[in-house]
Formats: sequence, structure tokens, C-alpha cells
Amino acid sequence: MNRNEARRRLAALRAEVERHRRLYYQELAPEIEDSEYDALERELADLEAAYPELVADLSPTARVGDDRDERFPAAPHARPMLSLQNSYDLAEVRSFDQRVRRELGAQAGVVYTVEPKMDGVAIAVRYRDGALAAALTRGDGLRGDVVTRNVATIATVSARLPRGWRGQFPAPVDACEARGEVYLARSRFAELNAEREAAGLEPFANPRNATAGTLKTLDPGEVGRRGLSVVFYQLFPLTDGDRWTEAGDLPSHRAELQALAALGLPVNPLLETAQDADELAGCLARLESRRHDLDYQIDGAVIKVDSAAQQQRLGWTAKAPRWGLAYKFAAEEATTRLRAITLQVGRTGVITPVAELEPVALAGTTVSRATLHNWEELERKDIRPGDRVVVAKGGDIIPKVLRSLPEARDGTQRPLPMPKRCPVCGQKAARREGEVALRCLNPTCPAVLAGRLRHFAGRQAGNVEGLGERWIDLFLAKGWVESPADLFRLERGALAALPGWGERSADNLMQAIAATPRRPWANKIFALGIPQVGIATATTLAREYASIDALARATADELSGLADIGPLVAEAITTWFADASVRAFLADLRSVGFFLAREEQPAARPVAPGDDPIAGRTFVLTGTLAGLTRDEARAAIEERGGKVAGSVSKRTDVLVAGEKPGSKQAKAAALGITIWDETTLRRHLGTPESAGDR
Ligand code: IVH
Repeated sequence: MNRNEARRRLAALRAEVERHRRLYYQELAPEIEDSEYDALERELADLEAAYPELVADLSPTARVGDDRDERFPAAPHARPMLSLQNSYDLAEVRSFDQRVRRELGAQAGVVYTVEPKMDGVAIAVRYRDGALAAALTRGDGLRGDVVTRNVATIATVSARLPRGWRGQFPAPVDACEARGEVYLARSRFAELNAEREAAGLEPFANPRNATAGTLKTLDPGEVGRRGLSVVFYQLFPLTDGDRWTEAGDLPSHRAELQALAALGLPVNPLLETAQDADELAGCLARLESRRHDLDYQIDGAVIKVDSAAQQQRLGWTAKAPRWGLAYKFAAEEATTRLRAITLQVGRTGVITPVAELEPVALAGTTVSRATLHNWEELERKDIRPGDRVVVAKGGDIIPKVLRSLPEARDGTQRPLPMPKRCPVCGQKAARREGEVALRCLNPTCPAVLAGRLRHFAGRQAGNVEGLGERWIDLFLAKGWVESPADLFRLERGALAALPGWGERSADNLMQAIAATPRRPWANKIFALGIPQVGIATATTLAREYASIDALARATADELSGLADIGPLVAEAITTWFADASVRAFLADLRSVGFFLAREEQPAARPVAPGDDPIAGRTFVLTGTLAGLTRDEARAAIEERGGKVAGSVSKRTDVLVAGEKPGSKQAKAAALGITIWDETTLRRHLGTPESAGDR
């Protein structure tokens, strides 16, 4: 590789790493396995080491990921909350041991601890004068999001430490901080997903994802219901205004764990010690073999130098301690038969080959489908229908086919040629220059149209409830709609005449569609389906650009100056807006009133006379209602196209306050949110006082 190639590869890798970090930490929707991400980050680090002069500014390899979310207040950490150096094989563990010994001096004995690496979300919990004072996520390592109320719902996070807690520390202290990992037990995760599926909600991809989403939920009541767990692995004292001093630390990692247990905080009992690399290897193998018997997910083991004095001598880099090492377990694999390769056409026209597998047990679930990504990958890996294949599911996201076993072929397996036509509409399919993806080039392909409509109606986009896949396909087949703007032109009479519909369903759907222009601007940007723009990027764009015209005029340079937007995403956005068919799409949406002259960030909207008082609005119920139960009120509101949320936020439209309303009313009043009493709610719902009396 010459310098120019290295420069290009560095830029591409860096953009990829940034993108996957955003998907993982911000959007909570990772697209690749952790092991694949680790490989990308590693390639980037190796290339940076080979060409240090090409590393201009702060690379992601020198920073921890950033989970901050502007809906929560941020606060500084008492000391940086770092990550760990990863390793993937015993050779790397041996060289870690050698480095540690070299740096500590040949004579010194070393005791290592080995413990599970929990696959959850890092948390810092501060106690002041023995009382729970704050809980922070890692954030960018220096500042974290304050999620105290959510963490306080975890049963084992006690509100007060036992009397005499100060006695656990060698010197006088005012406060202390426990750090650890919040997670969702596998058993609880399975229950939760079953409940979600029964309620028609999207299941969580994996326990880690569910944990991250739950910690960033605005309603602590809901957090409590989800049933998070925690284990702690670090404890240090704080003095004078929550300052940390190295001198006050406990003498060893094991001492910290003992003190945590004495304070009544949960620690992981699976702890072993090792004196050299061979013993380390034994500990790692034992832990890996127990991996599946545990009711929580672990993605490896953490090796630490036990002695605090030795830790101090080894020190830290900006990203990780030099006295610790994460040993990542290999992704789990299983072998099965590839029955067929089917083709899926997405909303951007990309044709993805999908593996239809003989069902096989993998990491606790049964897998029967897996993504094959694209044709290039299919050819490179020489995967053929009928092959025996190895599938993996490291992070429990989408299982993937790792490789085929050509030695198991009987001669009947033939490579699948790249299709020349779209499997759905039969029109020409091709690759664009510089792209690996095969696309259907027909802009009116039903699969593409359906995909766009589904995206537009989605919960984080237009949130058009009642417009499921089934109805989208039907409306397309009837020729009623082709694009999102057509939804606004649906006819009430035609909808009402559909089998099983009637006027009420027709009205509900039309109201839900008519409410989309009032969605928060960020969700509307997301609804447009701009390539590479997820909800987090859409939120950034919404903050910077107050109208669709302003956004359409943005240059790639301007965009890539924004937080979280790299050159590739910036380019994707400007290319999209430059396309003539996109202009027509936007003009069409404008003509049906989807855009407002000046889009505002979400804020409380007063209920204006003449507007539908229920449909499209978000309600919060509080206090005791006299004539109907909360569940009845919720059902009535939802039936009319309104939404009921658990806690008051800027997005709340109306607070319905019964008897003894409590703090929600005060908060709503402070935010200027409309407050109704029960009588007003009944009037708007059209249920007279007597009708619902119990
Ligand atoms: S010790 C200075 N111990 O893994 C960092 N971390 O990949 C000290 N993790 O940020 C961390 N289990 O969130 C430690 N037993 C364990 C862990 C653990 C999971 C997480 C932690 C850390 C990340 C690094």
C-alpha cells in the first residue's frame, strides 16, 4: 500500500468506525457484529501506527464511544471513565503479561484477576454521605448523562449505604463512587420481548440493546418495570466536592470488590486469580466454557493487575488503563445447510441476498435466516445454494453466514449468478459505479415503494398508526398510492368501504396521516428516508436547519462540520437533494402541506380551537380519575388517535389531571403544557359524565 492508498483507506475506515459507533451508541441499532466492528477498529489502529503522519486530528481509536443523548442533563465524571484494550487470542494475552512484567521490573510478582466481561452498559453511581446522589452513563468518558432516577429503580442499587460505610476506606471520605455494568438478565430479556411482541411492539435485538434503550427511557416507572440488574467492579472514595485522589484508593481490585460487597452492592462472584500467562489461559478457558450457563451475556473476560500500587505504576492511556486487558471470546458458530438464497428488495432498491437455512440452534435461539449482505461477498466466500455453511451470531443481532464448506459438496451445488432483473418488478438491476450493492433501477418498483411507505409511516418517522405492511401493500396494489404524499390524497369513502374497515377506521387513518406535518421536525426529516440519515443524524439536522429549503441548500462542507456527520454522510445527503426525482418527491410533499414554513424543534403545542383535540396529540394521565379507570381513559384516547405517554416532557401536548395530581402537574405547568380536568377530557372524547360511572 502506498501513501495515497493508505490515506484513502484511513479516511474510509475512519468514516466506517464513526458510523458504526453512532449506530451502536446513539441509535442503538448496530448493523454489524461486535467482532466485525472490533476488526475494523483494529485495522484502523494498525494503519495509523504505520502512518502516524497521516493522522491529523483526534481519531476514534484514541477516544471512547459516546452515548450522550441530549434529552438527559450531562455532568462531569469524578475521573475519566475509560474503555479497555481488547485482545482476541492467547498470544496477545501473553504479550500483555510480558509488557506488564517488563514495566514493573523483572523481580516483581504479579497477581492478576480474571472476571466476566459483562455485555451491558457502563454506569457510575455516586453516594454522598451514604445516600445515592447521582448515576451517570459513560458518555464520552469525561461527561456522562445523568440517569439517576432510572438507576434508582434497580432493586439492588440501594438508596442508602449501610451505617459505617466510611469504615471501608483507609482515609476519611465524604462520598464514594461505585462503577459497574447495568444489564438485563437473559431470562428477563426473553420475557420482555415476549410481552413486546404480544403488544405489537418491535422486540429488542439483544439484551445489551434493551439495556441501553431502557437506561435512556424518560419514564422511570417504565424503567422499573423492565427489571434491569447491575454488578459493580470498581469502588473509590471522593473527598472535598467529589474529587478523586489516587492516594485514597483501596489497595487492590479484590479489596474494592470486598468493600463493594460489604456496602451491600452486587458484585460478580465469578472471580479467579492467576500468577502467570499459563494460569491466565486456564482461567479464560474455564470462563468461556461456563459462558452459556450464565443468565447474563458476557462477551469475554477482563484481566486486571490486582495491586493498586502496581496499577498506578503502569498508568493509563487516554482511552484505557495499561493494567487491564479485555479478552474477547470468539463469535459463536454452528453448521447447517443453506437451503436457498432468496432476494430482498429494500426501500432504496438495494437487492440483498438472504440465506434460507435449515433451522439450527445457535447461542440459545433457532436460526433459519441470515443475511448474505451483497453479491461481492457471496462470490468472495463462494457460497452456493445447497452448501453446508457455518453461521455465527456473536452479538445476537442478525446472524450471518461466515463461510461455506466446499469439501461437503456433492457436485450439485452451483454458484447463483447475479440477477440481471429485480425479483419483484422484473426490471433491470445493476450496480452503480463504485458501489458493491446491486440495485433495482426502477423507481416505481412495488418493493421500493412499499419500503418507502413503511419507512414514512414508521414510529420514529411519521408515526402513522394503523398503516401496517398489509394495508400498504393493498393500497399499492389498488393503485391508490405510490409515494408518501399520496397518503394525504386517500379517499375516506374508499377506505371505509374496504372489508373490515368502516368509517371509524377510515377516519382514524386519515387523522393519523393528517397529523404527520405536526410531528417534530427531526422525525419528519427522518421520515424522508434520506440515505445514511438515521434518527440521530436527523436530530442534528433539525437543530441546524429550520426548514426543508434551508436543508436542501446545505453544502457537503457545511454538513460535515456538524457533530456526528462525516464526509460520506454529508455527501449522501447532498447527492440525494440534487436528484431531480427527489425534488419532485419533495415538491409533492410540499403540495399536500407536509412542510411548515419554519419547522420548530419539538415544543408544547397549545390545543387550538378547530383542531382535533385528541388525534395526533400526546397525553399524560395523572392523579385519580373519578368516572373511569386510567386504562379506560388510555384506551379511549388511543382509539381516537391520541397517544398516552408515561411522563411529562416537552413533547407532551395535554396533561389530564385527576384528584391528587402530584409532581406531574407542577412539571406540566412549568413547561406551559395544556392541562385538562376529567370533565374536559370527557367532553373532548364525547363521553358524558354518567356514561362511564362505576
Ligand atoms: S473494568 C477503566 N470490568 O467493558 C475501565 N469493565 O470494553 C475499567 N466491562 O468500559 C473497566 N465488564 O463498561 C471492567 N468486569 C469488568 C467489565 C467491564 C464489562 C465493560 C466496561 C468497560 C468496557 C470496556
